[in-house]
Amino acid sequence: MPQQIKKLLIVFTIVFGIFFIIKYALKPKSFGEFGHYRGLAIIENENKQVKYVGIEACNECHDDIVSYKKEGPHVNLQCEVCHGPGYLHIQDPETNKLIIPSKRENCGICHQKNAARSENNITQVDLKEHNVENKCIDCHKSHNPYEFKD
Ligand code: HEC
Ligand code: HEC
Ligand code: HEC
Ligand code: HEC
Repeated sequence: MPQQIKKLLIVFTIVFGIFFIIKYALKPKSFGEFGHYRGLAIIENENKQVKYVGIEACNECHDDIVSYKKEGPHVNLQCEVCHGPGYLHIQDPETNKLIIPSKRENCGICHQKNAARSENNITQVDLKEHNVENKCIDCHKSHNPYEFKD
């Protein structure tokens, strides 16, 4: 065997040795338990706090709004899409207030005219042109925007 190959072999052995030591040190214990991921990740996610509770939970106290919303175009929206996660609110509504999305930009998240959005799915207006003097909810009722405020 030529001399330089011997030296190269030594270098390779050291480099790979270090690689395997580092790999062993850094690999999480539960990795590979079920597949190519940390087994513990499943338990960690199971233990995460629930944040969204769904419209049925809101119906318990706000049934008037739930049924009113059904009459309008926002029928398929979850309450929490606009008001944020409701888990803490349903435990104690007085202490845990929800967001009131009253800015024009809040409606614009879904309705702002955008060439990348299909007009067939969601009606779009240009926020810079459509009744710019007022907030959307000065005119439209948010829970049924087919109807207008007086
Ligand atoms: C499209 C966004 C949107 C959705 C979806 C939505 N809300 Fe609202 N909600 C608003 C806005 C905006 C206001 C403030 C309305 C105002 O002041 O005119 C509001 C106000 C409220 C209020 C305060 C009291 C009132 O009537 O003004 C409650 C309670 C409420 N919403 C509950 C709900 C519930 C329950 C649902 C689901 C059935 C829901 N909201 C769905 C946007 C929304
Ligand atoms: C256990 C009864 C109860 C449930 C369930 C409940 N709410 Fe409420 N909610 C209230 C009460 C009471 C208020 C008025 C609180 C106040 O004025 O201090 C309120 C107020 C609100 C408001 C006005 C802003 C605020 O926080 O005061 C919004 C928005 C709202 N609720 C949305 C929801 C949504 C969305 C759900 C479902 C995820 C929901 N609520 C579930 C009782 C409830
Ligand atoms: C999470 C997305 C979302 C948000 C936020 C939202 N909307 Fe909507 N809106 C929809 C969907 C979905 C429809 C039903 C499809 C359609 O007609 O565009 C709709 C329909 C409408 C319509 C009827 C359009 C028509 O074709 O006649 C009006 C008006 C409207 N929304 C106003 C508002 C206003 C005002 C706000 C803010 C308070 C708001 N929307 C916030 C999703 C949203
Ligand atoms: C001054 C009152 C007023 C304000 C403020 C207002 N609108 Fe309207 N909006 C109307 C009226 C009236 C119509 C129906 C006639 C029309 O299409 O212009 C309408 C129609 C719409 C439509 C349906 C358009 C279509 O082509 O069918 C959408 C979506 C809408 N508004 C969303 C919004 C959003 C989002 C905001 C806030 C950024 C807003 N509006 C602010 C009065 C208002």
